[in-house]
Amino acid sequence: MGSKNKLKRFKENATFDNVFQPTREEVVNDTFPLKGKWNKEFFKNDHPLVLELGCGKGEYSVGLANRYPEKNFIGIDIKGARFWRGAKTAVENGMHNVAFLRTQIELIEHCFAEGEVDEIWITFPDPQIKYKRTKHRMTNSEFLQRYKKILKADGVMNLKTDSEFMHGYTLGLLHGEGHEVIYANHNVYKNEGAPEVVTAIQTFYESQYLEQDKAITYIQFRIK
Ligand SMILES: C[S@@+](CC[C@H](N)C(=O)[O-])C[C@H]1O[C@@H](n2cnc3c(N)ncnc32)[C@H](O)[C@@H]1O
Repeated sequence: MGSKNKLKRFKENATFDNVFQPTREEVVNDTFPLKGKWNKEFFKNDHPLVLELGCGKGEYSVGLANRYPEKNFIGIDIKGARFWRGAKTAVENGMHNVAFLRTQIELIEHCFAEGEVDEIWITFPDPQIKYKRTKHRMTNSEFLQRYKKILKADGVMNLKTDSEFMHGYTLGLLHGEGHEVIYANHNVYKNEGAPEVVTAIQTFYESQYLEQDKAITYIQFRIK
């Protein structure tokens, strides 16, 4: 994407009332005003709150918001020019149950209060296979502890990935640390049984992997 196009999207993001772009200082100093108040101040209801981490263009957040008008969704990514797509679609369709937050997932516990979140989706994260990149892997032990903090006690996690490595790594870690694997499927479009919502919505990256006939995997779990 050209820098002119990016600039245009950044400017448009700033006009959308469903886009939140707190500064790093605001976030780390715990002065981001929506922390603990997403439902009260923004969604203005007490519906369950669902996050999509590394949402990219936001297909899952918008798709889920369409399917579940009784739940609230927030797509989170560090790249605002990407989620501009989802934010604009939501504005154009008058959707009030989906928002976008530009921040680093590493800072997630500063953006949501303890127990504020009901469910989290991680869609096609970078597997970060190299040893030096392990700390950036979005299902490593440190990330799971961050998610646990903001999730309700029975909060549910969902991981969808094309990466066999990421799928295997996460399953191994979940077993090793004694978390609860609710459901796992290593090829959701070929092996029946995945919840319908798993195969009903495709993200941008997913569509490309499906064209290459790659298997799409899914794990649903609870962090203990
Ligand atoms: C491979 S893409 C997948 C995007 C989308 N979920 C999809 O399936 O089309 C990974 C996304 O995660 C975002 N991301 C990676 N690490 C992140 C981090 N630490 N904090 C916030 N976003 C991150 C990237 O900007 C990118 O948009």
